[in-house]
Amino acid sequence: MPDVIEQIDSLLAAARAELAAAAGEPHVEAARVKYLGKSGSLSSLRKGMGAVPPADRPKLGKLVTDAIAQLEALLEQTRTALGQRALQQDLEREKLDVTLPGRTRRRGHRHPVSRALDDIIEIFARLGFHVADGPEIEWDLYNFEKLGLPRDHPARDMQDTFYLETRLPPPPGSPPTRGAQEQLLLRTHTSPVQARTMLGQPPPVRIIAPGKVYRVDSDVTHTPMFHQVECLHVEKGLSMAHLRGTLDAFAKAFFGPEIKTRLRPSYFPFTEPSAEVDVSHALCGGKGCKICKGTGWLEVLGSGMVNPDVLSGVGYDPEQITGYAFGVGIDRLAMLRHGIDDLRLLFENDVRFLEQL
Ligand code: DAH
Repeated sequence: MPDVIEQIDSLLAAARAELAAAAGEPHVEAARVKYLGKSGSLSSLRKGMGAVPPADRPKLGKLVTDAIAQLEALLEQTRTALGQRALQQDLEREKLDVTLPGRTRRRGHRHPVSRALDDIIEIFARLGFHVADGPEIEWDLYNFEKLGLPRDHPARDMQDTFYLETRLPPPPGSPPTRGAQEQLLLRTHTSPVQARTMLGQPPPVRIIAPGKVYRVDSDVTHTPMFHQVECLHVEKGLSMAHLRGTLDAFAKAFFGPEIKTRLRPSYFPFTEPSAEVDVSHALCGGKGCKICKGTGWLEVLGSGMVNPDVLSGVGYDPEQITGYAFGVGIDRLAMLRHGIDDLRLLFENDVRFLEQL
């Protein structure tokens, strides 16, 4: 008997030591098999009971059962402790310091030309105009012919055109050409949207048409691509006064309420009469400076009453209706607004420059 008791004690001691050193579940399971498994140490002890005198058996039986219970409890404790340790380690590893500064991202902003365009669209939307669209690759018919600029019209010299080669047949009504290169072109202004819109719907028409236009030109105030907005209003009973009123409302909304406008007689084949429009120079308060060449005024756009020939050319009756139109360079408006004197700065897209605006 004392032998067996000693044996049980040393088994328990050994198991305790092993479990204390267990680093994970596989170790715990190995210990369980070793001590409590079918052929484990305690099971063997129980099987050896036959050799014990019958009088001692109940006592021994109780000793073994107690030992098994102790071991089971120990295994359970070890498992719980290991689980907690693992959880603790996970928490340590995934610890977040919410007080650390975040990673900052560089934040961009809209390009000054896009901002000017957005403002223009918004201002005209309030005046009841909607946005019309036209292609940048355009037929001669809409860019020139329908606007009172027939092939040999001297006014075509005002614009140096990028022509494109094409094998497509030009639309009906196109002027006869000397060569295949003279029908398709990069539009030189947004005015062809006037013709396209009027051909597509009856009056009244009240549109603005913003977009890219192209000319063979490059210096401090010209780039081969630039942006224009066309404005066209055709309806019964429109006069020069409506043109003035619209222009003045636009200039005040865009540049500020103190801005004044003035019209100077001019010439465009698609308007009659035509006028060039100046705005008072906000930067010098109209007193005159280098940018406005001492005049206090800046020329911003071309305008006029739609030429009756243009109206009849799109099937409208010029006896019944009249219209006014104007075209304005968006880049130029953005330059004036920000006091920039070199147009190319807007297109080089040097972020250090753009960030200052
Ligand atoms: N298309 C002209 C240009 O690019 C500008 C212009 C002038 C547009 C008078 C108009 C207008 O609609 O009526 O120079």
